[in-house]
Amino acid sequence: MSSHQASRRPIPGALFRPGEGARPPFLAGRAAEQRILADAAAELDGKDERGRANIPQNIILYGPRGNGKTALTLWLQDFTADKPRGWMPVRINAGDCGGDPDALARLLAPEPWRKRVMERGWSASVLGFGLSLPARPDDGWSVAQALASRPASVPSLVIIDEAHMLGARASRLLLNASHELRGAGAPLLLVLAGTPELEDTLRSAEASHWERGHKIPLGRLDAESAPSALLEPLKKHGASMTEDALDIAMRETLGYPFFLQLFGRHLVEAMNEARSGQADKAITERAAKAFHPDQGDFCKGRRSELRIIGGTLPAAAAWGAIRGFGEGASCDLVLAAMEPHCDDVHDIWHRLQRSGMLWEKAEGVEAGIPSLLDSTVRSAGPSADAAYQAGFAIGREWAQWRAASAGAE
Ligand SMILES: Nc1ncnc2c1ncn2[C@@H]1O[C@H](COP(=O)(O)OP(=O)(O)O)[C@@H](O)[C@H]1O
Ligand SMILES: [Mg+2]
Repeated sequence: MSSHQASRRPIPGALFRPGEGARPPFLAGRAAEQRILADAAAELDGKDERGRANIPQNIILYGPRGNGKTALTLWLQDFTADKPRGWMPVRINAGDCGGDPDALARLLAPEPWRKRVMERGWSASVLGFGLSLPARPDDGWSVAQALASRPASVPSLVIIDEAHMLGARASRLLLNASHELRGAGAPLLLVLAGTPELEDTLRSAEASHWERGHKIPLGRLDAESAPSALLEPLKKHGASMTEDALDIAMRETLGYPFFLQLFGRHLVEAMNEARSGQADKAITERAAKAFHPDQGDFCKGRRSELRIIGGTLPAAAAWGAIRGFGEGASCDLVLAAMEPHCDDVHDIWHRLQRSGMLWEKAEGVEAGIPSLLDSTVRSAGPSADAAYQAGFAIGREWAQWRAASAGAE
């Protein structure tokens, strides 16, 4: 269909879906992560030559908010639903149990499920896990009993979203139970998804839980894959974007999945208003104008979180250093830049990282959401600007030093 034909039919206004846990119309740039999840599902689906199930490691999916952890777990749920063996998924939001193990047990095995288990005469000991179930559905079930009631004859997918909110006790009970069940051959795939604070939660439960899981860090989308988040859904409606329009969209969103959806919303609106199936520079600039207030609201909320932890000036300095250095700023550089602006630089680094303001990848430290740090520098007054400039100078100095030492080799 040409863009001219498409211009007659509006693109659905709700094509793009900004919002927590909203399934994106196209899951962009997560092929590597999808492969890991699909491999774990395949491992659990298969049997070894003695007919025993292969039990994959627990999966720990972590990253700053808005990067698509929930979206990826929803994809996994859909993916396993399509499997012939009829996977049994359970998804819970750890925020709903507030760290209370009894509440967690109720979420893992709600009463209708308990009744079903009992009616069918299933019990953990029948399943061979050396753990008996309570006599009645309304007795108090432990986390281990609730989890043991899940894996039956089909593979069980247990997704705990917002898992950083589990608290030490509930996560210890959950992970110990999963460890024992898996050890006894229960076909269970446990996926924990949470912000970078998840590391602290799991370490406080027992350090080995963090270390033993298969960890998938989830950062922003890279420059190659981010365009597809907009282009693919538009393509399904015979619509497209010109190259300069795409440049604008990429500059505005910088691979942050939530912003891509938000931008997409405004883009569709602007395209429909212009009755055009092709977003050009002018249409996309109009979309950007409408996007800015929403983006501003979002940044405002996050900036106040930054203020509360005393992180405004250190974050501005860190951002200056990252910009001044270019790709691959090290943690040491970021600490050096932040040091003059706080009393306890390690504590601030930890907080900024856990809140997703800064994100450490193998290649170096980057901003969780670059436009958020830009807006912090812009709006927090002259001292934030000065901290940024000082950080920038340190970043440049380190880059020059690196270039000189590379030349000397
Ligand atoms: N890979 C992706 N491609 C395009 N959009 C995405 C992708 N992942 C997430 N999104 C969108 O980004 C927003 C935030 O996703 P969500 O899964 O809620 O993030 P998180 O759980 O990490 O906070 C949602 O609007 C979602 O539709
Ligand atoms: Mg989420």
